[in-house]
This record gives sequence, C-alpha cells and structure tokens, in this order.
Amino acid sequence: MNFLSLIESKREGKTLAPGEIQGFIRDFTTGRIPDYQMAAMLMAIYFRGLDTAETTALTLAMRDSGDVLKFPNDPRPLVDKHSTGGIGDKVSLPLTPLLACLGFRVPMISGRGLGITGGTLDKLDSIPGFQTLLPADKIVAQIQKTGCIICGQTDRMVPADKKIYALRDASGTVPSIPLITASILSKKLAESLDALVLDVKFGSAAFMQTKVDARKLARAMVTLCNKCGVNARALLTDMNTPLGCAAGNWLEVKESVACLEPPSDESIKDLRTLAIDCAAHLLLQTRKSKSLAAARKQAEACLASGNPRKKWDEMLAAQGADLSAFNRKLALDTTAPVTAELKSYQSGYVSKCDARIIGEVIRDLGGGRLSKESTINYDVGIDKIKKPGERVGKLQTLCRVHAANSAHAKAALERLKAAFAISVRRPAKTPLIAEVILR
Ligand code: URA
Repeated sequence: MNFLSLIESKREGKTLAPGEIQGFIRDFTTGRIPDYQMAAMLMAIYFRGLDTAETTALTLAMRDSGDVLKFPNDPRPLVDKHSTGGIGDKVSLPLTPLLACLGFRVPMISGRGLGITGGTLDKLDSIPGFQTLLPADKIVAQIQKTGCIICGQTDRMVPADKKIYALRDASGTVPSIPLITASILSKKLAESLDALVLDVKFGSAAFMQTKVDARKLARAMVTLCNKCGVNARALLTDMNTPLGCAAGNWLEVKESVACLEPPSDESIKDLRTLAIDCAAHLLLQTRKSKSLAAARKQAEACLASGNPRKKWDEMLAAQGADLSAFNRKLALDTTAPVTAELKSYQSGYVSKCDARIIGEVIRDLGGGRLSKESTINYDVGIDKIKKPGERVGKLQTLCRVHAANSAHAKAALERLKAAFAISVRRPAKTPLIAEVILR
C-alpha cells in the first residue's frame, strides 16, 4: 500500500475506500507506518472530514486492531453508557449496579480523566483495594456472574486508538467529529454491545461547548452505532454546572453511594434523574419496557428496592475491594487534611455555578492531571455545591473545598468566587436533558 498517495487523496478531499482505511490502520498499529505520516493523515482528516462510510470503516478497523470481548449466549442484553465527560459526572458508578439489577449485563469499560473532566477509573482508584485492570477472560467471567463490571480497557483491546489518540493529542487533531466518533465507538463496539446510551454534554466544561456541536457529534455516533448493529441513542445534557453536589475523586464515589441509598438526598436529584433516564432509555431500546414513563418507573422502583446498593458491594468485592475499609472511609466527613467553605456575600438565588472554574480548581488542588505523569490526590475536591436556582442566605455556604493544605484551600476559595453569582430573582430553570437524539 502506498500510504503517501492516500494522504494526498485525503488532502485533496477525496473519499477513501474501506479497504484502504483498514490497510493503513493495520499498518500503523503494527508499526509499518511512521508517526509523522499518520499525523499528516490525521490533519488531512481534520480539515477534509470523513463521510459515514469512511467513519464506519475507520471505527471497525480500529475495533478489530485488538481483542473484541466474546460473551456466552445469555438472555440478558449487553448494554453500556458513554459520557463525553464533565465535572461531577459520576453517573457510571450508580448506573452500573442499577442496570445489572434490571436484568442487563454491563461491561462498563471506562477511562481516566481527560483535560479537566474526571475519569471513572481515577474515581474508583480511591476505593481501598479495588482493581480496575483485569484481563478479558476475567472481565467476561465477572459480568456473567455478577452482571456488571467497571474496569479499564485491557492492553490488547483497541491498540489502534491508544496510538492514534496520543498522536492526535500531540498534533492538534483531537476536535474532529469523525476522529472522536471512531475513537469512542471503536472501544464501545469492542464490548459486543446490544445497546448503548450516549450522554453527550454541552456547556462551559464540556468537550463540545455548544448544543449545536454536541448535536452533530451525537448524530454521528448514533448513526454509526445503528449502522454497526448496536441500538443507540444519545441524550444531550447540560454541563454548564456540575452534576450533583460533589466533584473530586473520592467525594464522587461517596455521592454515588448516597445516590444508591434510598431515600436519596434531594440535593443530588439531577444525578439520580440522569442515572434513571439512562437506565430507562436502555430498557426501551432493548424492549424490556414499552414506554419511557413505564421504564422510568421500573428503574426508580429498582433503585428504591436497595438491590443496586447491594450489587455495588458485590461488584466491589468481586474486584478485590476491602469492604470494611471502604465503609470506614465512607463514614468520614472528609479524608483531606484541610476543609474550608466559600460563603455567599449576599442572600438571593444562585444564578451561576460554573463547572469549568470548579473543574480547573479541582485539577489544580491535585484532583486531576496537568500532564500524563501527574499523580492524583484522591481526597481533594469540592462538595456541598449550591446549584443554580437554590436559595442562599448571606454568609451561607456556597461550596466546601477539601485540600491538601491551607494554602491550597485559600487559593481555591479565592478562585471559586468567580464560579458563583447570586441574584435577587430566581433564574429561569434550564433542563438537564435538553434533547434525545434517536438517529
Ligand atoms: N474520548 C475518547 O475516547 N476519544 C476521543 O477522541 C474523545 C473523547
């Protein structure tokens, strides 16, 4: 294969054949194409785009660059959720055991934090003893036994994405809809799913800042999944403000457990609503429910039964967690050396609670990565976050910082002042789920 002529074709805006795409993905994964040529192809794709047939060929070639999970026949459908990432977005944690209790098998293969957005695996690493790196046979065996797993991708799954993503990161070609679609869906298709719900976020802390761009990405991903035999739909959700009232690795695990424990705290209604809606859509997609209203009731009743909370413990134990150490940690108000509260300068309604600023502050407290080599402090973060529409009195808490030391806490409080605004009038309510994309 003459890869240079394929780069030139794409540079001129021509369409590549599926066989050509399969060929260069295979050759790049096995080291026969150098990084500089692949980077040139990625830049050509960034500017010229890929049509649906080309994106499908790229996604499938990337999926087939490594192991694809194989499951025994079983009446329980295989389902998963993917979020494009946000601040306080911990939905995967309560959703996974909820789905298992609703009769699904859930291979929730997750990633680490990207930019300011938290990663599910980083959150889970704050649980004593919990293992997220497991070989494919153990992943399948746990799902068959307990119905669910939350873990990382094995080294042998989708190696093409790992190599291409690193190059995109270094060549300014991350924000390309066909490349994002192929990257996300090659990993999801390697799970052999029956149905997938996509949570595509828009807003200040989202990968896609506008609803228009989020809709474009959602449509591209839903179309491609459906073409590849995976029943998919996407929820467009608001990421201008954090999800739930806590952000930061351990604090999010704690809030996820609160979400699983009925009766759920009113302050985490948005987290609960999103988890219930993701489950309800999957019930509809797999024909386990006849209407969205009935599916929501089914998911709510399941959550209220307390079974997903028990399933959570079962999943933790199956992945090596020390449950008594975990429960001791859960009982603590904080695991960080210092806490400090940001107080409201006036009474009124919270009219802004900016997820981007909150995310940046948490990253700089040590809760996220500034480079690939950064080590994470799992105990830092922000909780007791007051959200838009909530009433606050003068000097009432707007949020609480958990920090490694008082200098960090003080600097965080100073920066967090810009994240909040208080108004005399109650702000108009914005819906958490703005749209559902079916095709
Ligand atoms: N997440 C991914 O896995 N890939 C992308 O390209 C973007 C977000």
